[in-house]
Amino acid sequence: MSSDPDTRAAALLDQMSLEEQIGLLSSRMPLVLKPRPDGVPKCAGWVPGLPRLGVPDLFETDASLGVAAAGRREDLATALPCGLALAAAWSPELANEAGAMIGAEARAKGFNCLLAGGVNLAREARNGRNFEYLGEDPLLAGVLCGASIQGIQAQNIVSTIKHFALNSQETGRMVLSASMDEAAFRESDLLAFQIAIEAGEPGSVMSAYNRVDGVYASENPWLLNDVLRGDWGYKGWVMSDWGAVHSAAPAANAGLDQQSGREFDREPFFVEPLAAAVDAGVVSAARIREMAHRYLRSLAACGVLDHPVAPGMPDLVRGADVARRAAEAGVVLLKNDGLLPLEGVRSIAVIGGRADIGVLSGGGSSQVIPKGSVRFDPPPDAPRWSAGVIYQPDPPLEAIRARAANVHVAFDDGGDAARAARLAAESDVAIVFAVEWATEALDTTLRLPDGQDDLIAAVAAAARRTVVVLQTGNPVLMPWLDAAGAVVQAWYPGSEGGKAIAGVLFGDVNPSGRLPITFPASEAQLPHPRLPGGDLPIVNDRGDTPPFDIVYTEGSDLGYRWFARTGATPLFPFGHGLSYTTFRYAGLALDGPAASFEVTNTGHRAGVETAQVYLLEAPGRRQQRLVGWARVALEPGETRRVTVQADRRLLADWDTETRGFRVRGGDYRIAVGSSAAALHLEGVTSL
Ligand code: BGC
Repeated sequence: MSSDPDTRAAALLDQMSLEEQIGLLSSRMPLVLKPRPDGVPKCAGWVPGLPRLGVPDLFETDASLGVAAAGRREDLATALPCGLALAAAWSPELANEAGAMIGAEARAKGFNCLLAGGVNLAREARNGRNFEYLGEDPLLAGVLCGASIQGIQAQNIVSTIKHFALNSQETGRMVLSASMDEAAFRESDLLAFQIAIEAGEPGSVMSAYNRVDGVYASENPWLLNDVLRGDWGYKGWVMSDWGAVHSAAPAANAGLDQQSGREFDREPFFVEPLAAAVDAGVVSAARIREMAHRYLRSLAACGVLDHPVAPGMPDLVRGADVARRAAEAGVVLLKNDGLLPLEGVRSIAVIGGRADIGVLSGGGSSQVIPKGSVRFDPPPDAPRWSAGVIYQPDPPLEAIRARAANVHVAFDDGGDAARAARLAAESDVAIVFAVEWATEALDTTLRLPDGQDDLIAAVAAAARRTVVVLQTGNPVLMPWLDAAGAVVQAWYPGSEGGKAIAGVLFGDVNPSGRLPITFPASEAQLPHPRLPGGDLPIVNDRGDTPPFDIVYTEGSDLGYRWFARTGATPLFPFGHGLSYTTFRYAGLALDGPAASFEVTNTGHRAGVETAQVYLLEAPGRRQQRLVGWARVALEPGETRRVTVQADRRLLADWDTETRGFRVRGGDYRIAVGSSAAALHLEGVTSL
């Protein structure tokens, strides 16, 4: 038998009727099927197979941050730290390992398709799903997403990449139309997908809910046929998001291959209506065959045909090891006036954030609910289908107590700021845990909720020294920043989060995380100071607003690129993160698109520096862009020369006429630094 996926798909199709082919072009949603057929697990998607031809059922589960619980209350599954935490590690190797770990757990749970690979850029700082994604930079997000997809698919299962494209906020996601200049789109949001698809070769692309330039992403011929297939040569299948399909023939002809969770849409468009469209000659039989071909070739290419899943026990010991290393690598030390690591303290006040119960996680379809999680009621504006606010096990309080055996550790839940401040005043150090829950289907704000800013201010005013540990899925404003001695961004840190946080606080872990997203100093600094559509009424029980348009006038200058353009000073820049050691940069040599330089560990501890290479100016334009980076692990006193090759698409601009990236001849000003705003070396290279 040939191993070429296209030959195999064609051989299968030759033995299939048109009805059988159409049978592959939609998935059911087992979560809502009553009764659920025997042998079908509770999950998001199920494409019945063709036993006669050896095509297995496809069981799809969400998987951004671990195998999602999908209606299971408690689950044997490892929760990885959230996407922003993974991105904060800036490590393709770790992203790959994390992907391989979820892939293996998914297989053990009987799934052969992961709805993973979220790579929408953090264009909107308040997007309720930023925690699932990989930050604001197309190169960083694309490279990490590709590495994670590779890890997943190496387990002989399919991964998606999603949500294609411009699903940049949750408010109005089903109705809004997003648009921007084509060149800018190619240089930002589309570039993240392009890079990840190239590196990861995902079996499937999931189309987004929203419209792009007025046309739903699931029936947008420009996105699906022209860009994805035409320009990028993508060979896999396009599945819709759940409830994102609005037609049969227009969607099929525009390039959608499969309707997901068809119970979720107004009609099972890709069943009878699609067959009727073929009868009527509006969709050709050749197009149906092509749709089924793309599906089957991905099953062949990803190993799903040859390696049937056999449910067993997930390896939770391996899961915990990966989750812990990922959480440790993702913690970002934002501020430290010498207070951390904690040494020689005799009493600690741990305050707030339900630090006695667990670590916060983000809500929505990606929700993982490991055994031992604790659930709280969601706020009233959360989606109806929310599983609640889930605290995953591994309480920081327990980890702090375990680490500080001879230290008096007292806990206050933070419900009464004056009481918490009294405890803080009696202790050597106060550690305040501040949380902000984020979820799919709802956007958030940049402000810590529930009076936590006041709590932190009260504690910091009373305590000798105050550490603030943030668990948020977005940047937040920090009106109390000057009063805090140290600030640790722990995101949603997953199954081993408590231990990872304690490891950083006590210095067992030398922090190396770097912000994958800018922390603005105010909403006014954002390209869209007000959340688009944020003041529109909710008109139905799905949470929809009336339709509205968003024009991303900032173009490709999102995140730090926007700050560079406006000259505004953020609270913390993209790429920022402190260490318990210090680094020095020297000796920049530029050779075409390669930058080589020395990094020295000038402190007393081993540490990891993430050296970032930025374009500052290209012929005819000033614009900051991350063009490459290197993670450098250095012993105290050690110096290493590293070479970073710029990705030429980040030096280029998009030429709409030739439909390609174009690197203009001339001088390019390049800088090397430890964040987008801390640039230590600069030079000019000619290309
Ligand atoms: C989300 C997708 C998810 C799907 C299936 C949708 O609500 O947008 O990311 O994969 O549900 O659960």
